[in-house]
Amino acid sequence: MVIDACHEERADQRPRLPVRRAFTLGVVGLLTAAGVLTLAGTASAASTLGGAAAAKGRYFGAAVAANHLGEGQYAATLDTEFNAVTPENEMKWESVESSRNSFNFGAADQIVSHAQGKSMKIRGHTLVWHSQLPGWVGGLGATDLRSAMNNHITKVMQHYQGKIYAWDVVNEAFQDGGSGARRSSPFQDKLGDGFIEEAFRTARAADPNAKLCYNDYNTDGQNAKSNAVYAMVKDFKARGVPIDCVGFQSHFNSQSPVPGDYQQNLQRFADLGVDVQITELDIEGSGSAQADSYRRVTQACLAVSRCTGITVWGIPDKYSWRASGTPLLFDDNYGKKPAYDAVLAALGGSGGGDGGGGGGRSCTVSYAETQRWGDRFNGQVTVRAGSSAISGWTVTVTLRSAQTVSATWNGSPSWDSSGKVMTMKPNGNGNLGAGASTSFGFTVMANGDWSAPTIGSCTAS
Ligand code: G3I
Repeated sequence: MVIDACHEERADQRPRLPVRRAFTLGVVGLLTAAGVLTLAGTASAASTLGGAAAAKGRYFGAAVAANHLGEGQYAATLDTEFNAVTPENEMKWESVESSRNSFNFGAADQIVSHAQGKSMKIRGHTLVWHSQLPGWVGGLGATDLRSAMNNHITKVMQHYQGKIYAWDVVNEAFQDGGSGARRSSPFQDKLGDGFIEEAFRTARAADPNAKLCYNDYNTDGQNAKSNAVYAMVKDFKARGVPIDCVGFQSHFNSQSPVPGDYQQNLQRFADLGVDVQITELDIEGSGSAQADSYRRVTQACLAVSRCTGITVWGIPDKYSWRASGTPLLFDDNYGKKPAYDAVLAALGGSGGGDGGGGGGRSCTVSYAETQRWGDRFNGQVTVRAGSSAISGWTVTVTLRSAQTVSATWNGSPSWDSSGKVMTMKPNGNGNLGAGASTSFGFTVMANGDWSAPTIGSCTAS
């Protein structure tokens, strides 16, 4: 195997010494103090990354490794949260054609059939790349190399014809640094600059329905490298070379943070008439700083109408390609990190929902104590619809053990057998337009406990 030049060149992405991993506790829907607290309650589609992205006309994907699919939590998180996948290594040249013209699609097929079973989009990664390239390719002379490259593109794309949303046809063909030059590789060195154009033309012929992308890293802001890619795409569009999209890998850390002109850079490529996609997102760090960076990336994509989706480069931190650190949205135990909440909120979704099938409808709740007497207090819950209209809502109110409820209004309550958990549904006030609100109330006999009851998250229908 050829040494991965991107590992060699990116000091910012070298494996680090092990660091303590941040764990996030999934505390959802707890209201413990008097006063007002808005709960990120929810319904279904908008309570997952994929569902919320879909409501914005985008996909939200993850890089997936076939050998993790058998792990229950891994597959469950993938299936619940994501609506797109990219095989992390399984479609690379060394995986599918380690000997010339002898193809092995086993591991990649596993991912493709899993994704198809869940109606997920699939990004094909990648056809022509200097890394993870079997040794025999580098040993070929120009004529043989050209025919091997075109044969590889054709056979792989035809195997997956009709199943792939977008292919990274050529990956990482430009050098870092200020020159904007092409990276040395067997393709560049023996076939010259024209190899990229040839690869795209061959790809279009092999599967005319797949979108054809150029994909690279450190092209996320405006710099010499992204300018060189920009010039190439502009030239391709002007000359009718088939290219449909540009992938921005977006591997970020403290030395290489989300650039200030990230959105403008995506936009200038989109203005050339191609889709743009965030293809390998991961951001080193933890807590609110990491969450803020993830939020900015998500907002930038949403602000560019031709940004069709975001893919994170892995699911839990423990499976990141980075040898240490915590760059992803889920911790080692599949707990949702603050970065997850930030992305979901930026997508217009809200956490804590039931995870299934509500068609983009969502609602949030907030609570306030409105009046207090010597032995009782009134509580009021405001229910607000998310970005879509809703026709019903359900909210639970859990009393403290000493408390009882003596009256309710503007809702239809039912009680569990303990008499402490009230499930409130509408009483003529279930239809709410997008962003509209209603409220229901209740009187709590405190019996010495003046704590606010626990208000559960809101489920919309
Ligand atoms: O499968 C072998 C295993 O049999 C062997 O025991 C083990 C020992 O090292 O290696 C395993 O292969 C590793 C492979 O990942 C699968 O885990 C390779 O050594 C390792 O180099 C390879 O790393 C991949 C890297 O690309 C290679 O360049 C990462 O998983 C993958 O996340 C990473 O992805 C790239 C994108 O394709 C392009 N952009 C940058 C991105 C991050 O580097």
